[in-house]
Amino acid sequence: MDWGKKNRLSQLIQKDGHCMFMPIDHGYFQGPTTKLEKPGETVKPLLPYCDAIFVTRGVLRSCIDPVNTKPIILRVSGGTSMVGEDLANEEITTSIKEAVRLNASAVGLSVFIGSKYEKQTLMNLANLVNEAEDYGMPVMAVTAVGKELEKRDARYLALASRIAAELGATIVKTYWCENFDKVVNGCPVPVVMAGGPQTETEQEVFDFVYDGMQKGAIGINLGRNIWKHDYPIAMAKALRAIVHENATAKEAGQIFNAEKKR
Ligand code: 5RP
Repeated sequence: MDWGKKNRLSQLIQKDGHCMFMPIDHGYFQGPTTKLEKPGETVKPLLPYCDAIFVTRGVLRSCIDPVNTKPIILRVSGGTSMVGEDLANEEITTSIKEAVRLNASAVGLSVFIGSKYEKQTLMNLANLVNEAEDYGMPVMAVTAVGKELEKRDARYLALASRIAAELGATIVKTYWCENFDKVVNGCPVPVVMAGGPQTETEQEVFDFVYDGMQKGAIGINLGRNIWKHDYPIAMAKALRAIVHENATAKEAGQIFNAEKKR
């Protein structure tokens, strides 16, 4: 692997081989979604607990301090909205030149497999990888399902993750599911887990993150279940313990409860 790409990846994936990414990119199709109205303020107290932030160039430039921050995974796909016709109809919005200028450690885009725009979004990925390789820029592919959350089963996610890896993604971000080992074992590049909509209890999040890590995920890219929570720092600390300190789901629950009381 080229020195630059290896160096960028080492900013993201820590020495233990694990990573905790914090996505605050949701506004690129959801607008000022709850608790992310002011993304810079939301993420600031969480920065000490994450290894990188996943963000668009607009929020990065306007809301994130370039001095005291964390490595950046730049969201480079978009062009759709919650109120538009089809969330899958994405294109590449941001050039690799811009990613280099912003000192990004990786770029990230969504692919919508099984959708009307499957080919378009897969070609977005393939073309982005072709360009990114010239600059040693890692590419994180997000296996997006748009509004069809029921698609999140092992058969579909294994298919989507494998195709993203085959087209050259450096890392695949996908959802946790039952039999998650099928997803990880069929994907030749590292897999990180997204969180999805907020769960009813925090323990559900600790349970699935723990299970996913046991089954081979290298970490998480989990947003709403942290920053939408009433106790975001307690959530971040508890999840970090699973990802980086080998804590069990039960131990994470104890860490959460102790932090909550502070
Ligand atoms: C949104 C994304 C997010 O990065 C991803 O969904 C993770 O966030 P969450 O844990 O809130 O689902 O790609 O476009």
